Amino acid sequence: MTTADEKILILDFGSQVTQLIARRVREMKVYCEIKPYSTPLDEVRKFSPQGIILSGSPASVDREGAPLVGREIFDLGVPVLGICYGLQMMTHILGGQVEHSDHREYGHAILEIDEPGALFSGLPRQTRVWMSHGDRISRLPAGFRRIAHTSNSPLAAIVHESKKVFAVQFHPEVAHTDDGKKILSNFVKGVCGLSGTWTPESFVDRTVAAIREQVGPTGRAICGLSGGVDSSVAAVLVHKAIGDRLHCIYVDAGIMRAGETEQVEKAFRDSFHMKLSVVHAGGVFLDRLTGVSDPEKKRKIIGNTFIDVFDEEAKKLGGADFLVQGTLYPDVIESVSVKGPSVVIKTHHNVGGLPEKMNLKLIEPLRELFKDEVRAVGEKLGMPRDILWRQPFPGPGLAIRVLGEITPKRLDLVRRADKILDEEIRAAGLYEKLWQSFAVLLPVQTVGVMGDERTYESVCAIRAVTSDDAMTADWARLPYDLLGKVANRIINEVRGINRVVYDITSKPPGTIEWE
Ligand code: XMP
Repeated sequence: MTTADEKILILDFGSQVTQLIARRVREMKVYCEIKPYSTPLDEVRKFSPQGIILSGSPASVDREGAPLVGREIFDLGVPVLGICYGLQMMTHILGGQVEHSDHREYGHAILEIDEPGALFSGLPRQTRVWMSHGDRISRLPAGFRRIAHTSNSPLAAIVHESKKVFAVQFHPEVAHTDDGKKILSNFVKGVCGLSGTWTPESFVDRTVAAIREQVGPTGRAICGLSGGVDSSVAAVLVHKAIGDRLHCIYVDAGIMRAGETEQVEKAFRDSFHMKLSVVHAGGVFLDRLTGVSDPEKKRKIIGNTFIDVFDEEAKKLGGADFLVQGTLYPDVIESVSVKGPSVVIKTHHNVGGLPEKMNLKLIEPLRELFKDEVRAVGEKLGMPRDILWRQPFPGPGLAIRVLGEITPKRLDLVRRADKILDEEIRAAGLYEKLWQSFAVLLPVQTVGVMGDERTYESVCAIRAVTSDDAMTADWARLPYDLLGKVANRIINEVRGINRVVYDITSKPPGTIEWE
C-alpha cells in the first residue's frame, strides 16, 4: 500500500544504479517504487503508475536467462522510458535488432539530438551523456524512430510517439550526464504529466491516516526507541496518529554513549509528551558479555539480550498488537532486488526475530523513504536538529568499540574519550559534515610518561569518516590542530588512556567500525 496519488514504477533489471533513478524521481517530488522486472502485470496494473521506467542491467538480451518483460507492458496506455538495457530489451522484444558492438562504450559521449520532442525539450542540440554498454541497437522496432545519436550509437534515443514509449542508450540518472535531470523530468512531468505532489507534508498527512486505519480505534503499538533518526521519526509519526496508544521502550544496555539515555528521556517524554519506558538493563548485558571478545559473538549476545529485555518490558505493559520499526526504503529494495543485488546495502539485523517472537504485526511508516526524506519528515513533525542530524550509532553500541573484553571500566574509558571527541568535533563545526566520528579503545597498553611518572596504559584510536551511505567511506582529513587538541584532552582528562592514534583507513578495505 502506498499513500501517493502520483506514481512512477521503476522496473529493475539489475543495474547498479537503479536506486539513483528512484532518487532522481523523488527529487521531483514524485513518488516511485522499484520493483523487480518479473513483477506480474496484474501487480503493475494494481500499482497504477502514471509512468514506467525500465532500468539498465549488466545482462545482454540474447544471452540465456536474460531478464525480459512481456510486451503487454507497452500496451497499458502508460508512458514508458527505457534506459540502456531497457532500450535494448524493448528493441529485442518489439522486433528490432540488438547487436554486440566491437566498441564497448564506457564513459562520456556527446549526444547529438536529432529531434528534441518531449524528451529532450529545452536541451541544447549537443549534450554530454554517460554511456556504459557493450550492446547497441542496429534496427528499430516497428513504429519507432530515432531522436538522437552519438558517434558510437547511431540509435542512442528512440521514440514510439503514439504509445509514448521512449528509450535512451545512455544513463540520465547519473550525475555525469549533464542534462540527465532535465531529461528525466521531461519524462516524468512532461510526458507522464505529473506535477510533484509528494512532499513531506503530504506524506505526513497520508501516513498518519494510513496508520490510524491500520491500527484501528483500539489497537496498541510499541516501539523500540534507540535514539537514532529512523526509530525516532517513526515513533513520532505513529504517536501523531494514535497518541498514547503508542508506548515506546528504550533499553539502556549499558553500552550507550555519555548522556544518551537522558537525552532520549528529555526529548520524548518532556518535549513530545510520549509514553516512554526506560529499562536500565546494563547489568544483564554486561553479565552476558563477560569474557567475550569475539565481535560476532558480542553482536549476537547483544541482539538476543535486547529481544529478551524488550519482550519482558512489553509484557509488563500489558501487551500490544503492533510493533513500530524504522525500516527505510533502501532496506526494502535490498529484499526485492533481482538476481544479484542491484544495490548492495549492508543492513544490520540487530533485533531480527523480534516481531515473530512477540507475535506482533509491523508498522513501518518509513518504508517508502530515503534517509534525507526521513529527515525532511522529521523536520515537518517539529523534531529537533540534534535528533535528525545525529550521526549513525551501531546497535551493539560501545561494545564493538571496546576491542577485546568489555568491562565497566573499559566502557567508561571509551565513553569519556568519545565525549571529548564529540565536543571538539561539534565545536569545530564538523559534526554534520562527518558520517561518523568516534573513539575506539584498543586492547593494547603502551608506555608513557606523565610528569615524572612512567605510565603503562591503554591506547585510544580516533575514527572519523566521510561517506554517503556507509557502503564506502573515506577517512576524514581532520585538521591537525583539532586532532592535537583532542589527543591532548583525552590523555589529560581520561585517566587510563595515555596514547591516542588516528585511523587513516578507508572503506574498503577497512570497515567503519573496528569490530
Ligand atoms: P561497517 O563497520 O560495516 O559499518 O563499515 C557500516 C555502518 O553500519 C554501522 N554498523 C552497525 N549498525 N548494527 C547497526 O545498527 C550493527 O551491528 C552495526 N555494525 C556496524 C556502522 O556504525 C556504520 O555506520
